[in-house]
Amino acid sequence: MLGNGHPTTVWNRPAGKADALVSEGATLAGSVGDAVAASEVVIVCVSTYEVTRGLIEPLAAQLGGKTLINLTTGTPDDARSTAAWAAIANQDQARVIDEGDYATEISNVSTNRLALGHILQASKELGVDASWLEPVKQAADELVAEGYGNDSFARTFEKAKTKNQVL
Ligand SMILES: NC(=O)c1ccc[n+]([C@@H]2O[C@H](COP(=O)([O-])OP(=O)(O)OC[C@H]3O[C@@H](n4cnc5c(N)ncnc54)[C@H](OP(=O)(O)O)[C@@H]3O)[C@@H](O)[C@H]2O)c1
Repeated sequence: MLGNGHPTTVWNRPAGKADALVSEGATLAGSVGDAVAASEVVIVCVSTYEVTRGLIEPLAAQLGGKTLINLTTGTPDDARSTAAWAAIANQDQARVIDEGDYATEISNVSTNRLALGHILQASKELGVDASWLEPVKQAADELVAEGYGNDSFARTFEKAKTKNQVL
């Protein structure tokens, strides 16, 4: 990220472990909360999901509207339950839907449509059933065709409402 010129804020329990990154231009945060506050995309990579949850759960309010990427290894159930927690905690997404204001500068429909295409293609190649994702991709396809590609991905909710689907 630093190599590509993206402003990057880092945090580690003993701050000294971040010295190398700071010397390359990263900003050292004094706390996990400061690191989250400074970032639109938050990447977590710690020893276990238990540690991950312990670090991010107190910051639920601050994580609204941000993209959370967890690289920590865990079980599929760990991943599902953390994703469910993040969805519930994402009050900002709910606000976007409630207010019908889908303007965004990050993670728009077009970007997510491409990602969904890749996931569906990779699943097909691996023989994994990802058919449950097809209505989401279809919603993104339709939104792009209708000129909503730059809107927040939350706009897929409008498609779900129209078709009475759960996306
Ligand atoms: N290494 C790889 O190639 C690789 C590849 C795929 C996935 N992963 C996964 O990525 C995760 C991290 O792997 P790693 O190789 O980077 O392990 P690591 O070098 O042992 O790093 C573990 C990190 O977790 C932090 N940590 C542990 N308990 C903490 C707590 N209570 N509060 C705050 N921070 C805490 C440690 O911080 P301290 O410095 O304070 O101890 C350390 O920074 C693991 O889940 C691993 O399975 C690693």
